[in-house]
Amino acid sequence: MVRVRTPRWAVWVERWDQQQQDSFPAREERFNTILEVLETRIPRKFTVLDLGCGPGSLSLRVLRRFPNARSIGVDVDPVMLKLGQETVGTVGGRMRWVSADLRHRDWASKLPVRKVNASISTNALHWLAPEKLRRVYHDVYNLLPRRGVFLNGDWLPAKAEGPMTQHLFLRIYRQRQRQIHRPVGWIDWNQWWRQLEREPSLRDLFAMRRRIFPRLHPREAHLSAEDHLRALRRAGFREVRVLTQNLDDRVLLAIK
Ligand SMILES: C[S@@+](CC[C@H](N)C(=O)[O-])C[C@H]1O[C@@H](n2cnc3c(N)ncnc32)[C@H](O)[C@@H]1O
Repeated sequence: MVRVRTPRWAVWVERWDQQQQDSFPAREERFNTILEVLETRIPRKFTVLDLGCGPGSLSLRVLRRFPNARSIGVDVDPVMLKLGQETVGTVGGRMRWVSADLRHRDWASKLPVRKVNASISTNALHWLAPEKLRRVYHDVYNLLPRRGVFLNGDWLPAKAEGPMTQHLFLRIYRQRQRQIHRPVGWIDWNQWWRQLEREPSLRDLFAMRRRIFPRLHPREAHLSAEDHLRALRRAGFREVRVLTQNLDDRVLLAIK
């Protein structure tokens, strides 16, 4: 009998965090901003909804910081969900993993609850086409209580950037990337996916993933920060703003 080696899940997730941090140097800063807002806004016991949770990087930070919190992580990628389940796990019943496609109308019906205290997301919603993003924002609005918050940390360019600003931003971004210390064995986004794909035990999940996402990064839209803010207002949020910005890395805040 051929035994299939179990992947070193924690190493894969550690490398995930490294390559994400490398592409988005303000990633931890963005996570912290989200945690700071949650700390001020929500009741002692609360449930957050993490959209496009991936292997659970953001949810894990929430659960570590707030011992009474629960998180529901939604993702459509079976590989990502598997990584999250194997590393973060259920955190003693505080973490729920939901397989749902935000592009589909019925995604919210897959959630185990009808209301959450807050919703959060990092680096995921830029994958959605405009009309699907608008619907997701509308659904999130309905899931929140009055004064509930939604926070989205993502790389969101400004709508009308002139060529000089763009050039300047790119230069600073590249300078920062050159300063990053990359540990031995560091791999980038593409290498990470290519290498993980070779794990024999993940063959079936990768086959499923290819049916869901025929391309490695199936970005559907290039929406600006303003497009997101407008979509949030249209969904009904009363107060909407850019909370922090570091180059084009922004955290958007919306209050119902
Ligand atoms: C770059 S990863 C970010 C993961 C995590 N939030 C983080 O910051 O590390 C984007 C995630 O969004 C998920 N995603 C993209 N489109 C989605 C969709 N239509 N429905 C659910 N999840 C989606 C991807 O599967 C992926 O896990």
